[in-house]
Amino acid sequence: MSPAFGEMILEGKVALITGGGSGINLEIAERFAEHGASVGLVGRTQSKLDAAAAGIAEKGGSAAGFPADVRDYDALSLAIGAARNHFGQIDIVVCGAAGNFPAPALGMSANGFKSVVDIDLLGTFNTCRAAFEHLRRPGASIINISAMQAVLPMAMQVHVCAAKAGVDMVTRTLALEWGPEGVRVNSIAPGAVDDTEGMRRLAPTADARKLFTKMIPLGRFAEKREIADLALFLCSDAAKFITGAIINCDGGQSLSSQRSDVLAAAVRAVAGERVSSGQGEESQQRKAQVRED
Ligand code: COA
Repeated sequence: MSPAFGEMILEGKVALITGGGSGINLEIAERFAEHGASVGLVGRTQSKLDAAAAGIAEKGGSAAGFPADVRDYDALSLAIGAARNHFGQIDIVVCGAAGNFPAPALGMSANGFKSVVDIDLLGTFNTCRAAFEHLRRPGASIINISAMQAVLPMAMQVHVCAAKAGVDMVTRTLALEWGPEGVRVNSIAPGAVDDTEGMRRLAPTADARKLFTKMIPLGRFAEKREIADLALFLCSDAAKFITGAIINCDGGQSLSSQRSDVLAAAVRAVAGERVSSGQGEESQQRKAQVRED
């Protein structure tokens, strides 16, 4: 455990986390639970949420899954309402559900672009909008998970760049609208994070990983725990005057914007051949792949 947080700083709090069944979002859920929060996990796949919740319970935490696709406002509203009924009023919301695949603009259909924008951007709006009525306020806090792509244009990522830039504006706008209610809204923008589905797709080979690492002044990928620690800080009282902020947790990668061509080359090298057609048998295989929030 990081010595920076010595106490159960979220004792008695309730957190709702979309995309909470895996990756960075699950790490955030685990971290919050370690600090005493009850966590409601939202995602598309019940079995995955159940496994994640069971893992948290094994370590003494309190968690439960509430399945919904963040693109479906009504279903999401029901899931959030169920979480509220289960745990009580919600104090913290993390909008982490996201989709990604590397593809050039010409290798992606309008529907491919829309899928990612709908999951990332519309899903974030839907979650904030539907959760607001259940938030305990003042003191409630929302964290939207953004990405470097919001500020670093990256080839093969037009859908993600557009979606995450939108997420950051949702953060700023809602911070403005909901500040008077005492609700804080911030974004975390991770760079390359180890052991995540996103980086497995963007840097699946040792060479690609090396190229990515060259872009990062601190010379390594983040650990999921480092993103979770930032989330813990942001929803704690230590951050109670921070709202509308987009906080990078990227080892300095965003300072390297002039070299985003290198990054684009890395993504192209590993993914270009595989995804350029976006059609046929490969498309069918993709549809059979694990699809997760
Ligand atoms: N290249 C080009 N297009 C792709 C693609 C790829 N690698 N993967 C999916 N698409 C397209 C599909 O072809 C489809 O478009 P079409 O109907 O015109 O053929 C569209 O995207 C929607 O795909 P679908 O299979 O219906 O799934 P979905 O809408 O539920 O979500 C993903 C698709 C890829 C966004 C989602 O499964 C996903 O994000 N998975 C990965 C999870 C991940 O990486 N998480 C970490 C995020 S940082």
